[in-house]
Amino acid sequence: MAKTVRAHTNIALIKYWGKADDQLRLPLMSSLSMTLDQFYTDTKITASTTGNHFFLNNIEQTDKSAQRVFAYLKKLQQHFNVTGSLSVHSINHVPIAAGLASSSSAFAALAGAFCAYYELDVNQRQLSRLARLGSGSASRSIYGGFAVWQKGVDDATSYAYALDENPQQMDLHLLAIELNQQPKKLSSTGGMKQAQSSPFFKPWLARNEQEMAAMTSAIKENDFTHLGQLAELNASEMHAINLTAQPGFTYFEPDTIKAIKLVAQLRARGIECYYTIDAGPNVKVLCQLRNVKDVTNSFVSVFKNAKIVNASFGPGISCLD
Ligand code: ADP
Ligand code: DP6
Repeated sequence: MAKTVRAHTNIALIKYWGKADDQLRLPLMSSLSMTLDQFYTDTKITASTTGNHFFLNNIEQTDKSAQRVFAYLKKLQQHFNVTGSLSVHSINHVPIAAGLASSSSAFAALAGAFCAYYELDVNQRQLSRLARLGSGSASRSIYGGFAVWQKGVDDATSYAYALDENPQQMDLHLLAIELNQQPKKLSSTGGMKQAQSSPFFKPWLARNEQEMAAMTSAIKENDFTHLGQLAELNASEMHAINLTAQPGFTYFEPDTIKAIKLVAQLRARGIECYYTIDAGPNVKVLCQLRNVKDVTNSFVSVFKNAKIVNASFGPGISCLD
C-alpha cells in the first residue's frame, strides 16, 4: 500500500523565530503565513523490507536530513503505537534550504502521508500539531490561504488554524526572487537558537501580540498597504535580531541588500511593493496584480540570472491517491 500526500509551502508574514521547547517545537511567538500555489512537496510512504529509507528528488539520502526524517517517523510511530519499516519518497517543487520554506511543505506532507499510510483518524488541528513536531512552520502548511499558528503553552494548544477570511478576495502576489539556490550553511533550527542571544530578542518578542493583531486586522480589512508594511517591518526585525546576536550572523548576501534597495526605489516611483525574507538570501516581494509586471521587469533588469516566480494563494494539504 502506498500513500502520497501533497503540501504547499507557506511564507510567514509574521515570523516564527525562536523555540520555548526544542523537542516539542513549541514556539516563543505566534506567527501568520500565506500558503503558496507555486511551491510544494509530494511525499509517498510505502512499506519497506530493508529498514527505513528516505529518497529526496529520487536520490537516497543518508545524511542529517535522513536522520531527521527517521527520528520524526519514530516519534510518530511511538505516539500512535504503530510499527514497520518505511520507504519515504519525496519530491520537492521548491529549492531546499534556501529560505523558500522547503521544511514547511516537507513535514506537512510527511505528517499527512504517515497518517494516510496508517489510516489514522486525525483532524486538521491534530495534523497541524503532528507536522509541528517535524518543523515548526509545517504546522501552517496544513491549510490554504492565510494560516495562524497560535503559540499555545503545550503540545495540545500549539497548532495552526486557517484564517476564515476568503483569501481569494485579497489581491496579493508574492514574487519569489531566487537570487541563490545554494543550501544555506546555518539551518533555520540553528539560526533561531543563536538569535535568542540578541539583546533585542526580548523586546521583539514583547511586540508579537501587537504585530499579530495588526496583521490580522490588515487582512480582515483587505488593506494591502498595511499588510505589506507590517510584513516588511517584521522581517527586518528578525534579521536585525540575527545581526545583533552574540555572535552575530546574517543570511543576507550582497544581492539581498541590492534587492531591498530596489524595493524601496520601486515604492518611491509609485510601484507599491514590500519585501519579506526568511532564513536565506532570497527575497520575496509582496505586491498586487497591477504591479506584478513592473516589479518583475525591474528585478529581471537588475538580476540577470535570478529566477522569478509569481506566486499567490495555494491550497491546503491533499491526498493524491
Ligand atoms: P528551508 O525551509 O529554507 O528550505 P530549513 O533549514 O528550514 O530550510 O529546512 C531544510 C531542511 O528540511 C533540509 O535540510 C532537509 O533536512 C529538510 N527537508 C527539505 N525537504 C524535505 C523533504 N521533502 N522531506 C523531508 N525533509 C526535507
Ligand atoms: C524564518 O520551521 O524551518 O521561515 O521548527 O526548527 O524546523 P524548525 O524551523 P522552521 O523555521 C522557519 C523560520 C522562518 C519563519 C517562519 O516560517 O515562520
